[in-house]
Amino acid sequence: MTTPIILDCDPGHDDALAILLANANPAVDLLAITTVGGNQTVEKCTINARRICSVAGITDVPIATGAAEPLIGDLHIGEYVHGVSGLDGPDWGEPSVQASDESAVDLIVRLLREHPEPVTIVAVGPLTNIALVIRDHPDVVDNIREIVIMGGSTERGNDTPYAEFNIKVDPEAAAIVFAAALPVTMCGLNITHQALATPDVIERLKALDTRMGDLCVELLTFFSASYLRTWGFTSPPLHDPVALMRVIDPSVVECLPEPVAIETEGRYTRGATVVDLHHLSGERDNALVAMTLDRERFWDAMIEAVASYV
Ligand code: BDR
Ligand code: CA
Repeated sequence: MTTPIILDCDPGHDDALAILLANANPAVDLLAITTVGGNQTVEKCTINARRICSVAGITDVPIATGAAEPLIGDLHIGEYVHGVSGLDGPDWGEPSVQASDESAVDLIVRLLREHPEPVTIVAVGPLTNIALVIRDHPDVVDNIREIVIMGGSTERGNDTPYAEFNIKVDPEAAAIVFAAALPVTMCGLNITHQALATPDVIERLKALDTRMGDLCVELLTFFSASYLRTWGFTSPPLHDPVALMRVIDPSVVECLPEPVAIETEGRYTRGATVVDLHHLSGERDNALVAMTLDRERFWDAMIEAVASYV
C-alpha cells in the first residue's frame, strides 16, 4: 500500500534527507513539500527545498511557501544549528526547480479536498501551517488520515532545557494540533537521538560513490560540527527522517498511546511536551508517542533512498 503524504518542513539538514527519503521510498507518495519558518526564515527554507529538489531531480512535486512567523510572537530561528543559509556545508548552485505561487496552507487544503483518499501529513518543522489548516479550514480535517510529527520529547529539550526546537518555535500551534480530534504521532528527541549518524553510516554513504552520497556526507559533516559544539554529541541525530520512517514502516518506529500536553505558559518550560508516561493525570491518550527505533532498518532504508539518486 502506498500512503499519500504531504511533507511540511523547514530545510534544514535533516529535513533535506527527509525530502530524499520521502521522494525515493515506494511506500509513500509525496504529493507536496510545504515550508515553514523554523531552522531559517521561510524564504530561506523554500530556497533550500528548491536546492535539494534541484540536485535530486525532483521536478514533479510542488513546493509551497508557508508561515513566516509563529501564531504568536516573533520567529526564533535555528541558525546556531543549520547555519546562515539554513543548509550550510555544500556549495549550492542556483536551484532550477521553482516554488509554486500557491501558499502552503492553500496547497494543503486543496490537496486534502481533491485527493480521493485521506492524506497523511508529515510535519518536521514548527507546526504553524498545520495549525492554520486545522483552525481555519475545519471542513478538510476529516481528509487528514494522520499527522506524524518530528517534535517534542518524553525527556528533556534541545532548544531550552525542557523544550524541543520545533515545538518551542510555535507552542500555540502545537497545542492546536495535539488538541485536534485527529490521530497524531509524535517522534520526539527520545527516539530521534537513537538515529545517530555514526562513523559507519558516513562510511556507507561515502561507499555509494555518488554525487548524492557525497552531498549527504557534506550535510552531515556540517550538522555533526553543530551537534558537537552545541550539545557535545560525537555523532549527529537525523531527526526528521524518523517521522517519515514511521509512515513508511510503522514496525521500525514503535509507539505507545499517551496523554501529551503542550506547555504554553511556563516561564522556563514554554514549548515543553508533557508526556504522561504513567497515566497519572487521568487525561485521554491524544497521541502515539514513538519510543523505540530499529536503528539498523532505519539506516538501511535511508541509505537505500540516497543510493537511488545519482
Ligand atoms: C528539529 O529541529 C530542527 O533543528 C531539525 O530540523 C528538527 O526538525 C530537532 O529539534
Ligand atoms: Ca526540521
